[in-house]
Amino acid sequence: MNVLEEAIDHGFEPPAEAVVVVLCAHIGMTRLSEQRGGKQERDKENKRRQGSHKNRSNLKFPEITLLLCKKFHLVSFSFRLFKRPNFVYCRPILAMRLAINIDHVATLRNARGGEEPDPVTAAQVAELAGAEGIVCHLREDRRHIKDRDVKLLREVVKTRLDLEMGATEEIIKIAIDVVPDFVTLVPERRQELTTEGGLDVAGQKRFLEGVIREFHNHKIPVSLFVDPSPAHIEAAKEAGADMVELHTGEYANARRERDIQECLVAIKQAAALGKSLGLGVHAGHGLNYVNTRPVASIAEIDELSIGHAVITRAVFAGLDRAVREMLSLIKDS
Ligand code: PXP
Repeated sequence: MNVLEEAIDHGFEPPAEAVVVVLCAHIGMTRLSEQRGGKQERDKENKRRQGSHKNRSNLKFPEITLLLCKKFHLVSFSFRLFKRPNFVYCRPILAMRLAINIDHVATLRNARGGEEPDPVTAAQVAELAGAEGIVCHLREDRRHIKDRDVKLLREVVKTRLDLEMGATEEIIKIAIDVVPDFVTLVPERRQELTTEGGLDVAGQKRFLEGVIREFHNHKIPVSLFVDPSPAHIEAAKEAGADMVELHTGEYANARRERDIQECLVAIKQAAALGKSLGLGVHAGHGLNYVNTRPVASIAEIDELSIGHAVITRAVFAGLDRAVREMLSLIKDS
């Protein structure tokens, strides 16, 4: 084991800039040796560099790069393999997946009854930005996502499409037809502004068992949206669910520190119970840029499902640029 490996093993966390610097050094070294040409020159260069670092570490630059990539969950590969020299591509891989709910893009579109903004385009942008799942909720009243959206999303989503739905005969038929990567069953009431609570899994176990079986017959995994309570999680397991999504709404709405902490404990315990039962564990509802961090640090949670906060952030993050673009368009006319 060399110095750097030992340090990392003992908990040393090199800052992110160090990773970038090392990657640049790696690229630089490759470029230098390419310029000097030939394997012999490259070997000489490697030897010279190793020699100059002998006293501090016996690592070669590519090894350091790989080590840091491993540590920071970066994938690094050189396009030299494809005869395009000196290009290193990195993409962070998070242990916890972020799935983006695009319902509110559809809400905005429907406000004018037209075609823009298209939630399908939003899904593609979200995936390009690194989202590892796309969520849409096809409601009985079609207030945001429409049948056409679900079909197109199935065609374009490259990560995982999660179709959120009430367990009604009509929507089950559509889901089986579309074959999303998985479905999330939620309670649905016409009058509600958004999904208001988790499923009463314990009370509806027989019914849900039948629905889950039907999805399984079509090879579609099922997640159940539940309040973070042991009874519902155990019932979800007994009903045959593959995953549970823990409802974080109560946590998100809590205002007093004591209530927030109580909700967090419940979510942590529920996540641990779900994992111990062999269920996939997702969480979502009401998560935003202020309250997500404590939930994101729960190791047993595999995926966060976030919609409203990201779409509202996008409005303000993009408004400045949108105004400038319109101004320059007018100026140039
Ligand atoms: N998970 C479920 C089951 C939901 O119903 C919703 C809201 O559509 C979300 C996650 C996302 O919630 P929010 O839009 O508040 O991020």
